[in-house]
Amino acid sequence: MTGKRVVITGVPGVGKTTVIEESMKRLAGEGIPYKAINFGTCMFETAKAEGHVEDRDQMRALDRNVQKELQRLAGKRIGEMEGNIIVDTHASVKTPAGYLPGLPEWVLSELQPDMVVLVEADDDQILMRRMGDESRRRDPEGSRSIAEHQGINRAFAAAYAMMTGCTVQIVRNENYLLDHAVEAMTQILR
Ligand code: AP5
Repeated sequence: MTGKRVVITGVPGVGKTTVIEESMKRLAGEGIPYKAINFGTCMFETAKAEGHVEDRDQMRALDRNVQKELQRLAGKRIGEMEGNIIVDTHASVKTPAGYLPGLPEWVLSELQPDMVVLVEADDDQILMRRMGDESRRRDPEGSRSIAEHQGINRAFAAAYAMMTGCTVQIVRNENYLLDHAVEAMTQILR
């Protein structure tokens, strides 16, 4: 395996995909290429091919064992990739059975990340972004519940660091301050 492997996480709607895309554009301009892999897309491709789901937002409600197998397959595929890789994923996934670790041991050992980055924002701002995005079927959730999820993500990220020795960084993506988030992320990835 060559290059850096950076896992970027955040609760749904925090804007992690937006921050990743903008940061990659800047880095490409500096001659630092990164490839971004969306872990959910990798899982979804298999889940759809096997007839488990029709859209990506149904994956959170799948049987836990099916989700685990989909995670394992995605982890294996991404683990085999070369170069600087960003893995756009979740530290934890809110499922009907509780918080599912996004990177359990068998996924982490395939990925061996150098760093885990948590993208965070104010709970109320995340709620408003979710309400404004009609293209997705978000689980109904209030800002207190979003706050809990962000807290759980920090705890899970600390566990991932203990398991692999990777570092943990936090990037804030506040409303209308996307540039600040992109600047912070670019520095981390450089
Ligand atoms: P995934 O594809 O990651 O979907 P998601 O969690 O719903 O994340 P989104 O991409 O929708 O949100 P985002 O935070 O990237 O925000 P965005 O940039 O779009 O995962 C799909 C599913 O896959 C999961 O639900 C799960 O089931 C599964 N999965 C994934 N990883 C897994 C794992 N490891 N294990 C098990 N299952 C896994 O931005 C949102 C909005 O905010 C946009 O409208 C944007 O314009 C706006 N915005 C962004 N930044 C700002 C700003 N600074 N100011 C104002 N508006 C902003």
